[in-house]
This record gives sequence, structure tokens and C-alpha cells, in this order.
Amino acid sequence: MNAAPVSRLLLPAIAAALTALLVWLAFFWDPGTATAPAGARPHLATRPGGGEFTLSGARGPVSLADYRGKVLVLYFGYTYCPDVCPTSLALLAQGLAELTPVEAAQTRGLFISVDPERDTVERLAAYAPFFHPILEGATGTPEAVAAAARAYGVSYARQPANADGHYVVDHSSATYVVAPDGRLAEILPHDTPPAAIAAAIRKQLGSR
Ligand code: NI
Repeated sequence: MNAAPVSRLLLPAIAAALTALLVWLAFFWDPGTATAPAGARPHLATRPGGGEFTLSGARGPVSLADYRGKVLVLYFGYTYCPDVCPTSLALLAQGLAELTPVEAAQTRGLFISVDPERDTVERLAAYAPFFHPILEGATGTPEAVAAAARAYGVSYARQPANADGHYVVDHSSATYVVAPDGRLAEILPHDTPPAAIAAAIRKQLGSR
């Protein structure tokens, strides 16, 4: 057997998923600009302020204060994400791999699930470090996740389940670099190359 029948099945599905993503991005991706008039949505017109969050990881409560003194890289997604999260986390992992051991020791990564219904802390603890050992996972109550997402200008929306009960969660896909003092320092767009991610982290390490 070869892979051709599988490819023929998968390609239309991937094309459909990408089309849906583009449509969603075009019409609904609107982080933190709810008060901006329609048709006037300058990118990051209301830059998110970042700040504290109260979530849970496999080792207990997780809050921004836990990372004081280190550079923290945040990403919001979910483990069942078919493509966007794995791509982003792979780029982030490559960026982290470019750090020296000393730099990496001063850096932490946190994957925050916007799908707490399926993403248990145990599942997140298996998923996040798969990409890089300094990546941890966290989630929380729907309210706590929503509050964290709001603080960082993250948008997400669970889509209706299909006949099998599977569902996707559309989500924005920026990476957030938090300085050692807890200040949201930089928002890196999706597809930021690993070298630029590493540079953004180094910039904050040097600012202490
Ligand atoms: Ni995702």
C-alpha cells in the first residue's frame, strides 16, 4: 500500500480547513478591538496590557508571578489543534533551542489551553514538553481562561462538533514575550522565524 489514497482523502480536508481558517481570520479575528468602529480596525489599536492570570498546571496553580525574574513566552492554543498550534510550537521550540544554556535557564514557556473541556493538566503536561523541555502547559476554568485570553488580546471560539463529536477551536496565534518584571514586552505574529523569537527573548534577558 502507498500513501496516495490517504493523501487524496486528506488534501481536500486540509484545503477546506485552511479556507475556513482564512474566512474566520478575515471576518472574526478581532482581538481587543471590540470598541473600534467597523471598517476602522488598525492592528493592535488597543494593545493588550498583559498581566496576571490564575490557571492550573500538572504541578498545581500557575500564575504570572511564578515567573518573575525570568523571561516568559506565552502561547494560547489547544492540544487537539490540527495544524496552527503544532506549527507555532515547533517554531517556538526552534527559537528556544537557539538560546545558550545560560539564556535557556532564565527563560520559561507556557502553553495555555483555551480548550479546558478536553485539555486536562495531565494531557497538557504530556503535550507541551514534547516540543521543548522548558515548555509547560496550563489551563483553568472557562472563566479563568477567558480572563487570561482577554488580558493578552487572544481571541478563540469553539466551533460546533461534527457527527463524531469532534470540534475545533479557532484561535489567534501570536506568541507573547513577557519581561522578567512581568510586563508584556512583545507580541510576535504567527510564523515569526525561530531566530527572531530567540532575539526577542534575548532582548528581554538583556533588559534585566
Ligand atoms: Ni491551535
